[in-house]
Amino acid sequence: MTRLMLAGVILAVAGCTAPAPEPVVDVSAKSAALADRFQADLQGQLQAAMKAGGPVGAIGVCQQAAPAIAASLSEESGAEVRRIALRERNPAAAPEGDLRDRLEQLAAAPLTAEGKPAVMQWTSDSGADARAHFMRAIPMKEQPCAACHGTSIAPEVQDKLAELYPADKATGFKPGDLRGAILVSWPVGAARGK
Ligand code: HEC
Repeated sequence: MTRLMLAGVILAVAGCTAPAPEPVVDVSAKSAALADRFQADLQGQLQAAMKAGGPVGAIGVCQQAAPAIAASLSEESGAEVRRIALRERNPAAAPEGDLRDRLEQLAAAPLTAEGKPAVMQWTSDSGADARAHFMRAIPMKEQPCAACHGTSIAPEVQDKLAELYPADKATGFKPGDLRGAILVSWPVGAARGK
């Protein structure tokens, strides 16, 4: 074995791929599973809250539940799980860096040809800080979304939204628009697990 080859083997074993491009890591299956759980859990809580207290009561439930579900799925998986949006309600959902461009691409085509929420995947950074990202569209629907994100929102819902989210940008959506996206980001470089 030449010294060069040996060096390559050692680098590969150490997980240090500095000179070579980061391998594409397919995180789609485990990311989609997390995104499904996020949506199912939140939808369950939202539906129960709408039934119990109508949209006004459900806003507070959503405010508590959404970040809590994101935090617990992140904790459990080691990925960062969050929702983002071009016109956000929760200020923490604002897209930073290149996320805005990617969301704009997703907004241009939120659904696949089969009518499923569109997905984008990419890897950012390199080496130790490399992260594999999975982003899935959350399309706007009439029911139940329009009560809190639609084009004609009841005045008492508007008041509650203004109270809890003074900088709310997440109204005026029509069915089929991109309401936002679930973003699941995995550490895949040597810094994994840090
Ligand atoms: C009862 C009112 C209500 C209903 C109904 C509702 N939402 Fe929301 N939505 C909220 C609130 C409140 C937040 C902010 C939650 C937070 O603080 O993290 C939010 C946040 C979001 C976000 C995260 C991005 C952002 O703007 O903060 C997405 C995406 C979203 N909603 C999509 C939907 C979709 C799709 C539906 C229909 C399936 C829906 N919502 C139904 C109240 C509602």
